[in-house]
Amino acid sequence: MTAGAGSGLFITFEGIDGSGKSTQCRLLAESLQDAGRDVVLTREPGGSPGAEEIRRLVLEGDPDRWSAETELLLFMAARRDHLERTIEPALAAGKVVICDRFADSTRMYQGVSRGDLRPAVDQMHKLMIGREPDLTLLIDMDPATGLARAKGRQGKEERFEDFGIELQEKMRAGFLALAQEFADRFRVVDGARAVDAVAADVCRLADNALKGTGA
Ligand code: ADP
Ligand code: TYD
Repeated sequence: MTAGAGSGLFITFEGIDGSGKSTQCRLLAESLQDAGRDVVLTREPGGSPGAEEIRRLVLEGDPDRWSAETELLLFMAARRDHLERTIEPALAAGKVVICDRFADSTRMYQGVSRGDLRPAVDQMHKLMIGREPDLTLLIDMDPATGLARAKGRQGKEERFEDFGIELQEKMRAGFLALAQEFADRFRVVDGARAVDAVAADVCRLADNALKGTGA
């Protein structure tokens, strides 16, 4: 589960809306920085100027603003830009890249939320992205709590939250299935606990990956 010699480590966080990914990304980044690591904290969609512009297109407005197919193209375009300009250069410089969501979110949200687009997602990923994280932390929790937390945040980026609880249920099950499909890089963390308890597990798993034990 470690990156190749001379390169950094690519850690992603996945899970339903409101599960605590952003909180845990920030805490892990702080903890690794305190330990003297060079860390790049980033997110998707976004993480580079061009991809942040695409973020506004996909996250604001009516839930039916885009079809799943159009959305897939927009997310892939954003990811390609993010990869070229932020992720690859940081990894090449030996840094730890911590990313709030990555390709597994596309496998779920565009891949299975409205019809079966997973084959298209996989083909485009292979063609245009071609990189998987070294470690993916799935923050798992029940959708009702996650949605309540996400709604409590209030903001304009509610297109996906407006899809409702049924989508979140489907996404949770789908993420757990992905964790089995990619068992070598996924670790599941119980997110329905106090922030510090979740953070302790996250730090331990990241430390193991950095040490190359992968456990
Ligand atoms: P995500 O990035 O997965 O959508 P956030 O980290 O933004 O989740 O958290 C959503 C909301 O829940 C925020 O208001 C955050 O402060 C709060 N939160 C995060 N983790 C916990 C936790 N373990 N317990 C209670 N509230 C939490
Ligand atoms: P994010 O800002 O991480 O939302 P949250 O903090 O509420 O989890 O992501 C915004 C939304 O974008 C989220 O509902 C999932 C969706 N999304 C996709 O549909 N496909 C993707 O490839 C990515 C990266 C995100």
